Amino acid sequence: MKLSVVGTGYVGLVSGACFAELGNQVTCVDIDEEKVEGLRNGVMPIYEPGLEEIVEENYENGNLEFTTSLEEGVKNSDIIFIAVGTPAKEDGGADLSAVKTVAKTIAETMKEYKIVVDKSTVPVGTGDWVEEFIAEHQKNDCDFDVVSCPEFLREGSAVSDTMNPDRIVIGTEDQKPAEILDELHQDFNAPILHTDRHSAEIIKYAANAFLATKISFINEIANICERAGGNVVEVAKGIGSDHRISDKFLRAGVGFGGACFPKDTKAIVKTANENDYDFKIVDSVVEVNEQQKETMVNKLKNLLPNLTNKTISVLGLSFKPNTDDMREAPSRTVIKQLLEAGAKVKAYDPIAMDEAKEVFGDQIEYCEGTYEAIKDTEAVLLVTEWDQFQDLDLTRVKRLLNKPIFIDGRNCYDLHEMEQEGFIYHSVGRPS
Ligand code: UGA
Repeated sequence: MKLSVVGTGYVGLVSGACFAELGNQVTCVDIDEEKVEGLRNGVMPIYEPGLEEIVEENYENGNLEFTTSLEEGVKNSDIIFIAVGTPAKEDGGADLSAVKTVAKTIAETMKEYKIVVDKSTVPVGTGDWVEEFIAEHQKNDCDFDVVSCPEFLREGSAVSDTMNPDRIVIGTEDQKPAEILDELHQDFNAPILHTDRHSAEIIKYAANAFLATKISFINEIANICERAGGNVVEVAKGIGSDHRISDKFLRAGVGFGGACFPKDTKAIVKTANENDYDFKIVDSVVEVNEQQKETMVNKLKNLLPNLTNKTISVLGLSFKPNTDDMREAPSRTVIKQLLEAGAKVKAYDPIAMDEAKEVFGDQIEYCEGTYEAIKDTEAVLLVTEWDQFQDLDLTRVKRLLNKPIFIDGRNCYDLHEMEQEGFIYHSVGRPS
């Protein structure tokens, strides 16, 4: 099939590349000329395992094209996916200005039947609005349908999530686009769920809000374990063995971050408010998460009350492993707290150093490797569980540290082993 995907962020670029990989003719559109030029030359704008390979292969075999011209994209395709960013506005709502610009160009350019698919995360009712907006600004009299088809990929495993989804949601009550999109998604070999457009839009927010709720829930259980005694890892296993609960997304830690959970939880609370409903659970999920991000430095302060001029090592800066994304990363809160307390920070991340430099500027010292970041510091704070931080040479770590303080925000180490190595080890929701 002939498709265009507008927006080459995580969702757009990965979806476009995966559709091309399945043999479709895909035009990826982005207004950023430098990004488009880079993609044509095999330069990926994001770090995502497996992405470069499929982009290069499909660009070379002609299945995938990149352009800055949305007009060209509309002309070359029967289905147009809107996958532009919908960042949070100050009031927590989603900023739909990019969606509006795209809808306007589609309206002005299309000359024959098109299916416009909304893949960006947008508040309920956006599909109705896009439909009305296109109808209002249409230059040529032709038919079109607007469908909501949300995306559930995770950063760091985006290609494999897109190729092997748990489900595909197609939100439309019209038969023609439903049949065409069914056919397009056949090769993904995943169950297809047909819903009305509003439900599809809500599914996306509800899924993220539910997952975020699981995380804040287990983080609160961890806090109880720390106070009352108990081990959250055991508790998570114990409750997760119940299929109704499942053991997924029950890893206690330093709070959730990234481009999605923080934004989408706030946005669904706002949607609820706009509809005269107080979404108390998710409101608390957000609040608990803000507190959770502060727990690591609070633990450090209990051990080292005066952090002035003390150098602290921070391992991991991206919001999770296998991505260079720093958006809402817990490391931001951790480093901010350390700096506010007068500490100096030596930091290392395997991939996100350039992005981190944009966030922290010259306020911290950037190290070339893990052990360099640990050398001559008063404590290690493990914030992001990259593989290489889970397999440290503990004897070397202890030798390099001025004090054997190790605060593990992701429960990466065995309690007994850390005790034997002589660390003052604090993790999340486990005995210390
Ligand atoms: C999330 C969802 O998982 C995707 O299904 C969704 O498509 C995506 O948002 C989106 O809306 O685009 P993502 O933000 O990439 O994906 O990453 P996750 O793997 O879900 O992790 C989110 C955060 O939760 C991370 O900070 C992670 O460290 C944290 N987390 C996750 C925990 O603290 N504990 C867990 O058990 C799981």
